[in-house]
Amino acid sequence: MKTYLTNFDISKKTIFILGGNGLIGNEIFKFCLNSNAKVVCIDIKKKKKFPNKKGVFFEKFDVSSLQNVDSFLKKIVNKYGPPTSFINASYPKTKDWSRNSYKHIKLKSYLKNINIHMNSYIWIAKKIADQMIKYKIKNGSIVLLSSIYGILGQDLELYKNTKMAESMSYSAIKGGINNCVRSMASYYGSRNIRVNSIIAGGVLDKQNKIFVKRYKNKTPLSRMAKPEEIALSTLFLISDASSYITGSSMVVDGGYSIL
Ligand SMILES: NC(=O)c1ccc[n+]([C@@H]2O[C@H](COP(=O)([O-])OP(=O)(O)OC[C@H]3O[C@@H](n4cnc5c(N)ncnc54)[C@H](O)[C@@H]3O)[C@@H](O)[C@H]2O)c1
Repeated sequence: MKTYLTNFDISKKTIFILGGNGLIGNEIFKFCLNSNAKVVCIDIKKKKKFPNKKGVFFEKFDVSSLQNVDSFLKKIVNKYGPPTSFINASYPKTKDWSRNSYKHIKLKSYLKNINIHMNSYIWIAKKIADQMIKYKIKNGSIVLLSSIYGILGQDLELYKNTKMAESMSYSAIKGGINNCVRSMASYYGSRNIRVNSIIAGGVLDKQNKIFVKRYKNKTPLSRMAKPEEIALSTLFLISDASSYITGSSMVVDGGYSIL
């Protein structure tokens, strides 16, 4: 009897994870690590305790230097082979990121954040897709981390009496990524490459207690996400179990966006 469970198997994939050292990226990395896939963790910094395991690699790259993407990809594709799967979980931001509210934002910061986050996500995804085509990859899959704030406005009530605030840049960045995923999926579909984003809800990570309580109250599952819950969804999207899903923005938010 045919079992479709093998479609979830990612052990034969070559997976590039950008931002693989972060809160969500590292969970994705850990899952891939245990799957026996070939995994290349790409990040601006290397973790001190990076695992020493066959088929697992680290490459340093700063996504804010987009002019170096071509040479960087050429180098790593020559070293590890072309990727079958690419996940971007990086979170590039300027030092004044917390001052991206409508009240405090500066033009320079706004433009810079759009460039290092939205533009790098979209440009690097395009360049990865082009590599997949060049090497005739079948079942290529690209997954970009997005957010509920790419489909919803930010509820200012959540931030009252905390030091947190809405971010003007973030909505533009994530909204832009979600829509480019649709146009990329349209273009690359006939070239055997699927492109999707994950609409992640807030992940619990030492946020202000008042904020967390309000956030829980607004969420049908009454809690914030665990990083591994977001990671598992990205694994589904790179696996062949999701072979008919492209151009979608998969909502993983505990129901936050339905109300
Ligand atoms: N954490 C959340 O609550 C949450 C919710 C929704 C969506 N997201 C999205 O998920 C993604 C990951 O978020 P996270 O919370 O894991 O972020 P994080 O800050 O924990 O990790 C981001 C990773 O990106 C790397 N990075 C930062 N700047 C870089 C650069 N210039 N070049 C290369 N790498 C760089 C960091 O070193 C880090 O390893 C982001 O796109 C974020 O917007 C996060």
